[in-house]
Amino acid sequence: MTALQPETGVRPRTATAAAGHTAATAPFPTGFAWGAATAAYQVEGAAAEDGRTPSIWDTFAHTPGRVRNGDTGDIAADHYHRFRDDVALMRELGLTAYRFSISWTRVQPTGRGPAVERGLDFYRRLTDELLAAGITPVATLYHWDLPQDLEDAGGWPTRATAERFADYAAIMAGAIGDRVPMWTTMNEPWCSAFLGYGSGVHAPGRTDPAASLRAAHHLNLAHGRAVEVLRDTLPSDARLSLTLNLHQVRPLTSGAADAEAARRIDAVGNRVFTGPVLDGAYPEDLLADTARVVDWGELVRDGDLATISHPIDLLGVNYYTPTVVSAPEAEDTGRERFHGGHGASDHSPWTGSEDVVFHLPERLGRTAMDWAIDPDGLYELLMGLHREHPGLPLMVTENGAAFDDYVSPEGRVDDPERIAYLHGHLAAVRRALDAGADVRGYFLWSLLDNFEWAYGYSKRFGAVYVDYATQRRIPKASAHWYADVIRANGLPG
Ligand code: NOJ
Repeated sequence: MTALQPETGVRPRTATAAAGHTAATAPFPTGFAWGAATAAYQVEGAAAEDGRTPSIWDTFAHTPGRVRNGDTGDIAADHYHRFRDDVALMRELGLTAYRFSISWTRVQPTGRGPAVERGLDFYRRLTDELLAAGITPVATLYHWDLPQDLEDAGGWPTRATAERFADYAAIMAGAIGDRVPMWTTMNEPWCSAFLGYGSGVHAPGRTDPAASLRAAHHLNLAHGRAVEVLRDTLPSDARLSLTLNLHQVRPLTSGAADAEAARRIDAVGNRVFTGPVLDGAYPEDLLADTARVVDWGELVRDGDLATISHPIDLLGVNYYTPTVVSAPEAEDTGRERFHGGHGASDHSPWTGSEDVVFHLPERLGRTAMDWAIDPDGLYELLMGLHREHPGLPLMVTENGAAFDDYVSPEGRVDDPERIAYLHGHLAAVRRALDAGADVRGYFLWSLLDNFEWAYGYSKRFGAVYVDYATQRRIPKASAHWYADVIRANGLPG
């Protein structure tokens, strides 16, 4: 999925750009899903209500020093109580789909045993409200909030966690399988494995390279087991997917050492998931790179790869910024080192890639996360997937940007940078469609400002501003812009 073009090289513009204005503003395909996304711990709040118990993110956020300003998801955007108003807002914006995640500990507090009806009822009410508003519910089973009890029993580095996940998937399929047509098993398992157990900047905050690779395998296995369960339980037209944050890796220069750095990051950042899930095998180079860290022979049991590679109907792609890497010598070039990516700093999360340097490319500016703005990266990512996995429908399940938004004295939130960001990235999707990629939809991250993990509430990704003191929602200029795009089913000229 990586283009592996040198960062310093000239990347060709596509044929569409040459075709000019008309192609860029051409309508998107009929039925293209126009969505927005959120995740349970980031928006719901109501952390101790109706039987919900702590997940690893509750524990992590309540541990001093882990999250900026000591922020927690205890209240967040209070979506648990305000979901009806939020769905009304979605309807006003014209969204055709809403991607949300389920809080595992709300429906199965210890991650084992019977479900809590009050928890299930929340998701029944939410999905019913969406359907009544004509909005397609897209449910993610896991967006990083493992039950604390399961972490205490070993967490993702432990094989049994994958089995618990399959049981939980069965509970959710039984509860809302009749009304949710599209399911995602996992969101960005790379973050769970490598930020959660490698660099420790995400919950549960462990820093153990072997644990991060073991977690990666068990997340893959949990995905596969959930697909088995969902296929057995859901109506035959339910669509199943996995959402990955594939790194659009580029070597800094065309030199062999930088190409090797890019290969290593592509292996441990991307192919550790796409290999087993889409091709039925872990890549040989990944196994070799990490052989001294983990015993793959012991970790991967007979039958695992067949389970993990059960066909999915759709691959979800989350894209924010490209990843530029080099061999260590390039550190002397004076280029700034990259300290981005979900709070990841340095290379520590990249097990097996300690000899790789990350760079921050200067493109069309940076977001408040300090991430380079580079829509071409999304185009290249979609086209790479289209080339390598023809016939696999794609969905942009997250794309968006944090900026330092504020409410004007007149009560407006003007966010021209976010509009430019969204415009650029939707134009990249449009170009990929023109070039033959089968992209079925686009979900803006995020519907609402929310809890940005280790950054707490300091970063605002929403199309809708949230005044956390009052929980008042104010659609930003970008929300109005997005509503116009949806109404036109295409970009403005
Ligand atoms: C990806 C994650 O899925 C989401 O939870 C996060 O808030 C955004 N990226 C922005 O960092």
